[in-house]
Amino acid sequence: MTHADTPWWKSAVVYQIYPRSFCDTNGDGVGDLEGIRRHLDHLVWLGVDAIWISPFFRSPMKDYGYDVSDYCDVDPLFGTLADFDRLLGDAHARGLRVLIDWVPNHTSDEHPWFVEARSSRSSSKRSWYVWRDGTPDRPPNNWRAAFSADPAWTWDAKTQQWYLHLFLPEQPDLDWDEPAVEAAMHETLRFWLARGVDGFRMDVVHCIGKDPALPSVAAERARIPYCALNEHESTHERLRRIRELVDSWPGERVMVGEVAVPWTDVVARHYGENDELHLAFNFPPLFAPWEAAAWRERIDQTRGALDPREAWPTWVLSNHDNRRHRTRYGSEARARAAAVLLLGLRGTPFLYAGEELGLEDAVIPPARVLDPGGRDGCRAPLPWEPTPGHGWGAREPWLPWPPDAVQRSVAALRADPASILHLYRRLLALRRSSPALRLGEFRWLDAPAGVLAWERRCAGDRCVVAVNFSDTDAHAVLTTGLRVEIASDGLGEGAPYAGRIGPDQALVLRTGL
Ligand code: GLC
Ligand code: CA
Repeated sequence: MTHADTPWWKSAVVYQIYPRSFCDTNGDGVGDLEGIRRHLDHLVWLGVDAIWISPFFRSPMKDYGYDVSDYCDVDPLFGTLADFDRLLGDAHARGLRVLIDWVPNHTSDEHPWFVEARSSRSSSKRSWYVWRDGTPDRPPNNWRAAFSADPAWTWDAKTQQWYLHLFLPEQPDLDWDEPAVEAAMHETLRFWLARGVDGFRMDVVHCIGKDPALPSVAAERARIPYCALNEHESTHERLRRIRELVDSWPGERVMVGEVAVPWTDVVARHYGENDELHLAFNFPPLFAPWEAAAWRERIDQTRGALDPREAWPTWVLSNHDNRRHRTRYGSEARARAAAVLLLGLRGTPFLYAGEELGLEDAVIPPARVLDPGGRDGCRAPLPWEPTPGHGWGAREPWLPWPPDAVQRSVAALRADPASILHLYRRLLALRRSSPALRLGEFRWLDAPAGVLAWERRCAGDRCVVAVNFSDTDAHAVLTTGLRVEIASDGLGEGAPYAGRIGPDQALVLRTGL
C-alpha cells in the first residue's frame, strides 16, 4: 500500500514559531521574520516538515499580535511584506511548508473597520461588530472575557451602546452574521493564498458563529471565559464556506482550527463531514498530568470522537498560551519521554519552538510582566548561542531568558549527541522513514500499571511505543523480536529490547529481523 494520495499534512510534523521569541536580527530585542529565515537550515536539520508562525500582522500588540489592525500587512516590528515573501521562498526552496495565523473572531480596536464602526451608530461598518443597547451599569449578558474576571462587554460612552469582546476590550468581536464581514475575511485568506502560504492556523475559530440571541450561560458556568463555552451551528456553515475557498486553491492548503474548548467531542464536530476543518487542536491531552491513566483516557476519547468521522487527530504538548510541558512535568526525563509519546501517536504532532531544547518557562520578575493573560514564561526568547546575547544581538530581549540558557542554547545542544535536541532529531528522522509511525493504525498493547504501550502498523512496517510514566522500573514483554530504535534517554538504542522500561523512560521498538 502506498500513501501517494495522502495529503501532506497527515504525515507532517508542524513546528510553531512565536515570532517575537525566535530570533532578533536588528537589535531591538524582538524576534523578526528575518530571524526565522536565517534559521531555516536549522529546522531542516531538525527534520520538521512545516512551520506555523504566530501573528506578525500590523497590530498595537495589546495581545502580542492577536489583535490585528491590518490582516494584509506585516507589522514593522517584524519586517515587511518583502521579508515575508523572502522567508516563504526560502522555506519552500528547502521543502518546508509555511502556515500563518488567521484571527477571524476579533480585530484590534485600532483596525480601521472598528474605528469606523464605533464612530457613530449609523456608521456603514456598525453592523460589522456586535453592539447592544443597555445602561452602563448592566452588561447585556453574563458572558465573561478571557484574561480577567471582567464581562465580555465594554460600554462605548460616545455611542451609548455595549460592544462584545470575548478577549480584551481592545479586541472587539467581529459579527459574522453580517455578510460583508464574511466576504472581507475571505478576502484576507485569498491575499495570503495568492502569496503562496500552505495554510492557516485559525485562532479560536469555533467562536465565529454565536447564538444571535446572545443568551446568558447557566450561573455555574458564568466564571468560565465564554470563549471556552461557545458552540453554535452557524460556525459550521461558515467553516464549510472557508473550506471550499481554501480547497479551491491548488496544492493542498490546510486549515488547522484552534477549537479552544475542553471537550474533545465538541472539537470533533468542527471537522464536519470532512468538509470543515482539515485539522483541529484538541487541548484535553495538553492538560493531562504525567499519568498513564490520564493519558490513556484522553487518547481513547480522541479516538472515540474522531475515528468515526475519519477525522485526523492533532497532538500538542506546549504552545504560546500554556506553561511548557517541561515545566509542568517537572523534569527533563519526563519531557523526553513526552516527546516520544507525542511523536508516536497517530495524528499530526505540533511542536512548540524551544521544546526540542528542553526549555523551561522563564521566571518573570513582577516588573517585567507583560502579558495580560500571564503567559510570558513560555514566550521567553530562544537562546541560539551560549555566548552573551545568545545570538540575538546586544540589547536585552523583550522577555528574560529561560533558565540555563547557556547550556540549553541551540549551539550547545547541537554539539552534544546525547542532548534532548538530538533525541527530537532522531525521532523526526525515524518518523519520516516509518510509514507505521506516520500513518499506521493504532492498537493498545497490554502493559503493566503505570505504562502505556501501543502498536503502530502500516503494511509491513510495525513499531511499538512504550512509555513508563512511573518512577520505578517496569517489566513488559510486549511482543518478541523487538529492537530498541529510540530510547528517550538514549540508552541501549540499536540493542534488542530486553523487557525493561526505566522510570520516566519511553521507547520506540521495531521488529528487528
Ligand atoms: C488564541 C491564541 C491566544 C490569543 C487568543 C485571542 O487562544 O492562541 O494567544 O490570546 O486566541 O486571540
Ligand atoms: Ca527585531
